[in-house]
Amino acid sequence: MKAAYIEQTGPPENIKVGDLPRPEPGPGQVLVKVRAVALNPIDLYIRSGMVAFPLAFPYIIACDLAGTVEQVGPDCKRLKVGDRVWGSNQGLLGRQGVACEFAAVGEEWLYPTPALLPDDQASAMALVGITAHLGLFRFGRLKSGETAYVPGGSGGVGSMVVQMAKAAGARIATSAGSPERVELCKTLGADLALNYKTDDVPARLREFAPEGFDVWYETQREPNLEVSIPLLRKHGRMMLIAGRAAKPALPLGAFYPRNCALLGFAMFNATPDEQQVCAHDMLRWIEEGQLKPPLVGRTFPLAAAAQAEKFLEANTVGGAGSLSSKVVINVD
Ligand SMILES: NC(=O)c1ccc[n+]([C@@H]2O[C@H](COP(=O)([O-])OP(=O)(O)OC[C@H]3O[C@@H](n4cnc5c(N)ncnc54)[C@H](OP(=O)(O)O)[C@@H]3O)[C@@H](O)[C@H]2O)c1
Repeated sequence: MKAAYIEQTGPPENIKVGDLPRPEPGPGQVLVKVRAVALNPIDLYIRSGMVAFPLAFPYIIACDLAGTVEQVGPDCKRLKVGDRVWGSNQGLLGRQGVACEFAAVGEEWLYPTPALLPDDQASAMALVGITAHLGLFRFGRLKSGETAYVPGGSGGVGSMVVQMAKAAGARIATSAGSPERVELCKTLGADLALNYKTDDVPARLREFAPEGFDVWYETQREPNLEVSIPLLRKHGRMMLIAGRAAKPALPLGAFYPRNCALLGFAMFNATPDEQQVCAHDMLRWIEEGQLKPPLVGRTFPLAAAAQAEKFLEANTVGGAGSLSSKVVINVD
């Protein structure tokens, strides 16, 4: 089968597209005919070697997939041949990735694809949607009537945070880097959408939430805690999900006397059961019309997997600003 893989970590040019043996589904696994693969920043960090995971070479890149069950391994209980599925968390913690024609995936990581949802969109919502849900609800304990903020409301995680916070009955503020993306945030349901390049974001957030934010879902790799911590409400919770090399200053005097909490997490630490809770809510909200997958901003064929990662890297790490939301590799 065709696959995009690396034989050693390094730059995007290390990604080769060639033939690898088609895997056999083991106990509890199904073989998925992969149709779409969404890329995430974590794929770049693993491929470059910045995040040191155990990798079995040739290591197939990417975590998020959508496709159709082609074959069912022994002891599978939920899925059958022909089921359309989406999921995440592959290519992590020793598992093989999914940028290939056929992927053997434990059925505990897969969820049914709604009939009207195309595979590229199903793959695009996988890791970012589960991350948004874990942060808002498992860690952030967001409740109806509370107020939340997420920077980057048109981005992968941010666009899911905006919609999920609304679905949960919260007030949600966000920011984006162009007038078009600010408009997109509004169509997703943001109660306040700011342009972080032209608006005085802290002042506008203070007006929107004079008592402060119950939940601050930080998505930036260099968060400015000296600005954000004073904007938390008493008992406020701040999620930190990015910034491996960041060492932000923490204004303690604005933090502990108001019983605030900083909560860091990585979605790949969540168990299959914990991730299924997220996927279950996502599917319900899609059915109810309250959640749409993030925009697929750019697609590449499998043969151009290296260019796809290069393009994502230029945007997420390089800040090129030429991407709206997700990059997806179409496998056929
Ligand atoms: N811990 C975890 O489990 C986990 C899971 C998923 C992601 N992450 C991390 O979370 C981060 C976001 O991931 P993602 O997939 O959502 O990336 P993404 O799609 O590239 O989104 C980044 C967003 O940040 C916005 N942004 C850039 N500069 C900003 C600024 N100064 N103020 C406000 N917003 C700004 C961008 O807006 P514009 O496009 O309008 O400029 C974009 O919407 C990444 O660093 C990723 O590694 C962590």
